[in-house]
Amino acid sequence: MMQEEFHRIRRLPPYVFEEVNRLKAQARAAGEDIIDFGMGNPDMPTPSHIVEKLVETVHRPRTNRYSSSRGIPGLRRAMTAYYRRRFGVLLDPETEVIATLGSKEGFANLAQAITTPGDVVIVPSPSYPIHAYGFIIAGAAIRQLPLTDGPQETEGFFHALERAVHHCVPPPTALVLNYPSNPTAKVVDLEFYKDVVKFATRHNMFVLSDLAYAEIYFDNNPPPSILQVPGAKEIAVEFQSLSKTYAMPGWRMGFAAGNARLIGALARIKSYLDYGAFTPIQVAASAALNGPQDCVDEIRQIYKVRRDALVSSMARAGWDIPSPPATMFAWAPIPPSLKHLGSMEFSKLLLQHAKVAVSPGIGFGEYGEGYVRIGLVENEQRTRQAARNVRRFLSSVEGSNSILPDESSAGPKVVAS
Ligand SMILES: Cc1ncc(COP(=O)(O)O)c(C=O)c1O
Repeated sequence: MMQEEFHRIRRLPPYVFEEVNRLKAQARAAGEDIIDFGMGNPDMPTPSHIVEKLVETVHRPRTNRYSSSRGIPGLRRAMTAYYRRRFGVLLDPETEVIATLGSKEGFANLAQAITTPGDVVIVPSPSYPIHAYGFIIAGAAIRQLPLTDGPQETEGFFHALERAVHHCVPPPTALVLNYPSNPTAKVVDLEFYKDVVKFATRHNMFVLSDLAYAEIYFDNNPPPSILQVPGAKEIAVEFQSLSKTYAMPGWRMGFAAGNARLIGALARIKSYLDYGAFTPIQVAASAALNGPQDCVDEIRQIYKVRRDALVSSMARAGWDIPSPPATMFAWAPIPPSLKHLGSMEFSKLLLQHAKVAVSPGIGFGEYGEGYVRIGLVENEQRTRQAARNVRRFLSSVEGSNSILPDESSAGPKVVAS
């Protein structure tokens, strides 16, 4: 007899963003121009010297063959050189670094490699979905770590962490961190990582730090690496991505660095699963890491201009959005007059009435409610257009009874104003 539902599929609820995506597709099919801040998908071209290196390498003999799962030696050396240059961290290219098919693949496969049903992992909420689902797919259990706002943030973090660890049965295998954060755009300093390393060492747990936004920062404040903390290599591994730094999201190239046992575990599982990225991609990725970095400055500058346009024009439209210090996202509290709707309904209304797509905070976990995530993936002009649409929408909401939270039906109704 056919099984009811496959064990792992049951652990994967339909994607929360699907609802908004469906409405977006419908609106587009009806010919509407939707300004789409929904996805974290970089829209600028990959710098030409990286593309040229790929093309040149494709023409070389034997690059069509299976590549190396851990990454070709030149790429692993380029990755360690980046760590030395950027963070002053020395890594062994043989044992402390591994290339991954994007950081997401590396994260998910490490989760598979190190946990088993019955294990518990501490994952922040809100978070990028794979941080929880990598472990959920592996059969492990998640203990959420609520990330709070406010002046006592760091203190609040350790208080919540202490509590989470205290109540974990069995004790947690690992803690996931992601700063600069997707979706909240929060950043931390090296002192924070020092405290984390001390804490994790004391509690005998690993730390998996996702540093995908290492190079997407503003205001001249480069985010630190947890590996800068003495002793961090005993317990921590860090994920890096070329997707945002060099606008290479579709190329699928990232890497993991740090604790040799964790890197070894990831290497082992990957040796069964894949043959590594296409060699020309690995060669081009080496060129990206070793080559001139002014393209990174340019990419950073593009996001910064968009960020400033978004924050200032939305403020004029009546929506106060904190300016993100890093990442390609703004984490926007729902305007107070509409907060009661929740992030999903608010996102739907914004799509229908302002023609602006955002990601509802609830899609990033329970503690993402009350916010929406706005990706800096539309150009300045369209960002300003979005703010004009939002202003009209908000004033129609506040001006009359245009939005009637209709208790008799599933969601609020909007009537023409
Ligand atoms: C925090 C975070 N980690 C990982 C990823 C995935 O990056 P990659 O393309 O390297 O798999 C993203 C992409 O949006 C992200 O925001």
